[in-house]
Amino acid sequence: MHIQELLLHLREYGRINSIPNISDKNAQFLRDMIHIGGVKNLLEIGTANGFSTIHLCMALRENKGTLTSIDYSLPSYHEAVENIKQARMDDIATLIFGNALTELPKLREKSFDMIFIDGQKKRTLDFYALSYPLLKDGGFFIIDDVIKFSEKMSSFYEFLEQEKIAHTILKIDADDGVMLIVKEKINYTKLTK
Ligand SMILES: C[S@@+](CC[C@H](N)C(=O)[O-])C[C@H]1O[C@@H](n2cnc3c(N)ncnc32)[C@H](O)[C@@H]1O
Repeated sequence: MHIQELLLHLREYGRINSIPNISDKNAQFLRDMIHIGGVKNLLEIGTANGFSTIHLCMALRENKGTLTSIDYSLPSYHEAVENIKQARMDDIATLIFGNALTELPKLREKSFDMIFIDGQKKRTLDFYALSYPLLKDGGFFIIDDVIKFSEKMSSFYEFLEQEKIAHTILKIDADDGVMLIVKEKINYTKLTK
């Protein structure tokens, strides 16, 4: 099956089975960010059945990059393994079955240029804190669904305010938006003091 056909099939499958896959506009945005950022190594938290993972891999393939994605649902993991294989992305994608809260500390520090957080919303602060050491300086986070689930993510929003962490919310489509946080190479706040 051609990859576009597979994505259409997965879009419909996700709709019928209520899988919260990213929207097409969001998929386009993520692929654009991979291109603009010259992303080579990407970490995804929340694979589900691999719909977003395949989109991410399409852009990473052009950058000769690789992807690591984590999910703790065994049925989702099995579906993702099969879908990634069908998309012929299994040579660049490593799927981890497990809880991100215990799997993230096992990954190598500063090994990712981009981290896409799309797991359980109320755990966003934990995902951010545990994956922060894994992100290279100058790399960036994209956090999904930060508008409609802002209440579930209240601890994360409070943390951003307390720590004065610069963050930008982009309204991607009618459904929701994403947050962009860059891990600065240079601390400009300190320079201007
Ligand atoms: C919104 S769905 C991901 C959708 C996927 N990114 C897409 O667009 O196709 C969230 C996924 O995160 C997984 N998840 C939630 N909390 C997790 C955790 N602590 N560790 C691993 N996976 C988690 C769920 O099992 C679910 O499959």
